[in-house]
Amino acid sequence: MNHTTILAGWDDAHSQLWGRQPIRLAHQLHQSPLFTTEKLARLIERYPREHYSLVLSGGVDGDRVWREGEIGALSGDQVLSAIAAGRFWLNLRNVDHVDARYGAVLDELCAEIGAKVPHFAAATRGAGILISSPRTKVYYHVDLPAQMLIQIVGHKRVYVYPATPPFVTPEDLESIALFDVEVDITPESWFDDHAAAFDFEPGQLLSWPLNAPHRVENLDDVNVSMTVSYADRDIRYRQVVSRANGILRHRCGYQPRSRATSGVSFWTKALMQEVLRHGPWVKRRRRERRAVDFRLDAEVPGRIVDLA
Ligand SMILES: [Fe+2]
Repeated sequence: MNHTTILAGWDDAHSQLWGRQPIRLAHQLHQSPLFTTEKLARLIERYPREHYSLVLSGGVDGDRVWREGEIGALSGDQVLSAIAAGRFWLNLRNVDHVDARYGAVLDELCAEIGAKVPHFAAATRGAGILISSPRTKVYYHVDLPAQMLIQIVGHKRVYVYPATPPFVTPEDLESIALFDVEVDITPESWFDDHAAAFDFEPGQLLSWPLNAPHRVENLDDVNVSMTVSYADRDIRYRQVVSRANGILRHRCGYQPRSRATSGVSFWTKALMQEVLRHGPWVKRRRRERRAVDFRLDAEVPGRIVDLA
């Protein structure tokens, strides 16, 4: 018998579907005192600059926007007011390392899932807290590690697509592995006909198959979610193959055909990508795509100041 403090209402179907189909589960983290407005405001104030991303995104009906910025000298409460008034995603990345209390939540969650899903392995894992504005969106994208999303506050709609071509191709995975670009795939409008759409509210957790594309639309309230990324050896090896095949394709003009994660071709690629992955051509593309070009305005919540 398994004792759980985070998961709720798990049944055998969840154990069998985990990682194979998109599934929505129940959890109790939204009742944790770690996610009150007060706690989040204090967390924001002492968050290391290198561990957060602030993104200005488009509204659910507007043009595509995706700019990176910084919170500047605002207090945690001012940042939360800006998010409530604007179109932002604040991603407190690596929160399990920044604050051990959230690390303990991640460990407990992974232990509970591991007790219920025999093939669940999360030797490499990390968590983030996402605080985001009403009616903003995260565009169609793919993450290389396995993912789950835990809703704490607010309401959103999450669309999950099949983890196969044409929804995501090997070339897409290579570009993400090489250039660290998360939001770079333009979906066809008919892709939605094949998506699983979830109305997502506090107390729910979503899990989907590895590399399944997804996008998110917030409804009319501020959202607080926890994201969990995890990988076992097989997932890490797949990333190695994607990076190596990306180098072959972009740098060497060669069409890679194998995505094997064992054998001579795999280990040759593993060595090659280790040597070449930090090359100047990769770094240059990454830097161009990650420039910070605004900060939050301290006077008017939601307004931004463009940086030269
Ligand atoms: Fe994602």
